[in-house]
Amino acid sequence: MKKNYNWAILGCGKIARKFCTDLKLLPNAKLYATASRDINKATDFANEFGFAKAYGSYDEMVADPLVDIVYIATPHSFHHKHALLCLEHEKAVLCEKSFAINSREVEEMIAKAREKKTFLMEAFWTRFQPSFLKALEILNSNELGKLKMVRSDFAFNGPKDSTNRLYNLDLGGGSLLDIGIYPVFSALMTLGKPEQIKTIAQFSPTGSEETIQMSFKYAGGEMASLVSSFASYSSIQSEFWCERGYIRLNRRWFTPTSISIWHEGDSAESIIESPAIEGNGYQFEAAHVMECLDNQLTESPMMPLSFSTDLMEVLDRVRKDAGIVFPNHD
Ligand SMILES: NC(=O)c1ccc[n+]([C@@H]2O[C@H](COP(=O)([O-])OP(=O)(O)OC[C@H]3O[C@@H](n4cnc5c(N)ncnc54)[C@H](OP(=O)(O)O)[C@@H]3O)[C@@H](O)[C@H]2O)c1
Repeated sequence: MKKNYNWAILGCGKIARKFCTDLKLLPNAKLYATASRDINKATDFANEFGFAKAYGSYDEMVADPLVDIVYIATPHSFHHKHALLCLEHEKAVLCEKSFAINSREVEEMIAKAREKKTFLMEAFWTRFQPSFLKALEILNSNELGKLKMVRSDFAFNGPKDSTNRLYNLDLGGGSLLDIGIYPVFSALMTLGKPEQIKTIAQFSPTGSEETIQMSFKYAGGEMASLVSSFASYSSIQSEFWCERGYIRLNRRWFTPTSISIWHEGDSAESIIESPAIEGNGYQFEAAHVMECLDNQLTESPMMPLSFSTDLMEVLDRVRKDAGIVFPNHD
């Protein structure tokens, strides 16, 4: 049965703002509470989006028995702490990517969710995008034959400000956990866990990784060539090269986008346009969380905790190969 759910936002920053714009599109999502370390910020955010309550600390918010689901939108290095706080209070959790800083933290979050029999999911919104799902459908249909190579990128010229979260090692700074996680996700979704990983990284003056190239090799000889960077712009595309053709998720491939497809013998690529959608595309993951709760699930069948475990394990291996260390976390 479809129920209404009281949502709370933990951390009123940039992504929370985009997410809430989309949350408002879902009739069964009630914008109930905001929580910030600063009550004025929580109040302003609540007023802007029409939340009923505003809390000046995360602890006060999780103590509110009317909160059903918490969306965690703090920097990666706080996801572990904030997920444990919410799960301890038996709040369903949708936690931004990267799910945490390392595999140990992810394991502890999952153990707490299981102990409390409470819903937990990584907010990997791409998993729920209609265009990404269409690409998976084409690849799984075998119309292009076997997938042999994934080529995926995500780069932008980041702010040259060493105090920014993107360059702060205490906050898990570096392109890998922020945007490199998307290319890694695309390879993991389609080819699974690689046998071999080789990387080359460039570091910023703060010691954070700024650009990383990753090559993966799989048991059957398949490969992935993945890159992320805060040093330049890229075309932000994901390509899937198969034995009888290829598909490409076009610019900003991880959001709703078009797909180019070419079959062996075709004179040109054809395009599958993305269905028109309202909002940014964050509503799909939020709707999915509520569907899971409607069905008394404590884990998503589409974005299972085993996938988040595998994703973090691969990211840990990439970090080890590239020499990326978070001194206060590892
Ligand atoms: N899915 C996506 O498309 C997407 C896009 C961007 C980012 N993200 C993810 O979302 C998370 C947040 O990113 P963001 O860009 O929204 O970050 P942000 O604006 O820099 O910070 C988010 C919020 O975290 C809270 N926070 C708590 N402790 C903090 C501390 N010590 N330093 C800084 N902030 C602290 C702050 O909220 P209060 O001051 O209100 O307490 C802050 O506004 C990251 O993990 C990122 O990977 C996802």
